[in-house]
Amino acid sequence: MTRVARVLAQGKINVWLHVGPVFDGGYHRLATFFQRIDLADVVTVRVHDHAEESLRMSGPALPAAGLGPDRENLAMRAAAAFRDRTGGWPAGFSIEIEKHIPVGGGLGGGSADAAAVLRALNALAPEPLSRELYEGTALGLGSDVPFLVSDLVRAFGTGRGEKLTHMPAPFAPAAVVLVIPAFGVATADAYRWLDESGTRQFLSEEPPAFPPGEDGWKGLDRGNDFEPVVEARHPFIGQARRRLQECGASVARMSGSGSTIFGLFSGASPTTQALGLDAKIIHTRTSDSVVAVEVRE
Ligand code: C5P
Repeated sequence: MTRVARVLAQGKINVWLHVGPVFDGGYHRLATFFQRIDLADVVTVRVHDHAEESLRMSGPALPAAGLGPDRENLAMRAAAAFRDRTGGWPAGFSIEIEKHIPVGGGLGGGSADAAAVLRALNALAPEPLSRELYEGTALGLGSDVPFLVSDLVRAFGTGRGEKLTHMPAPFAPAAVVLVIPAFGVATADAYRWLDESGTRQFLSEEPPAFPPGEDGWKGLDRGNDFEPVVEARHPFIGQARRRLQECGASVARMSGSGSTIFGLFSGASPTTQALGLDAKIIHTRTSDSVVAVEVRE
């Protein structure tokens, strides 16, 4: 028997991102504000009684050259990790992903797909994983996966990003303009550039308090530690941030380790034409809910 679940794998931006020293296992300590966005991949997971493993990808954000071997794909690894944890369920699975989130751009696309697979499987499983196993499996797949698998729409994240505190900030949803440069930035490179630059922040692991105000998002402009080192190599990122600010963004920052730059707009956002930037532009919004898994019998 085949059963199906469909998940809208929402992406994320890091409204701010501070990077601290390296701790156990070679990872850096982080303090970041995650915000889910409406831009989402569509992930469909089918579970089978027979042994089968397949992945099909399509969609406007799928690179022409594809995404490398299926076995290494994070969504496939998520399903394999889930099966390891349950001791063999599901016997087989097929995954379809319609890509809308640009790949490798700091928007958590691959992590959102992996999180969507875990959510789908947990919804279909005869016995869901314990919270501990589920969250541990998510972190094993990547630092952004715990937030994206959670039921939080925005969160303050510390540790590798897995220690999550709900942010009850009463902000009105904002328009999000994403500027997607033609070049990407490899996450491991960005961490290395930061280490070589020798800049270190004191990281507070206390959830911050937000100043009340008409435009709550403005109070969230606390920077991204990767920006100086990535902008030094890619000046376009600084140009795009300044242009978004000129157009009235409350916050204009790089997301994650780049290369995407986002602008948050409480009022009207600029059109692609008005921005006049030499990059792909995507218009979306901050999410105000996590879209539920849809199980189809
Ligand atoms: O966890 P994730 O797979 O996203 O990490 C990709 C790479 O980024 C890691 O191999 C590591 O080099 C770096 N990283 C880090 N500290 C973190 C997260 C990622 O050094 N907290």
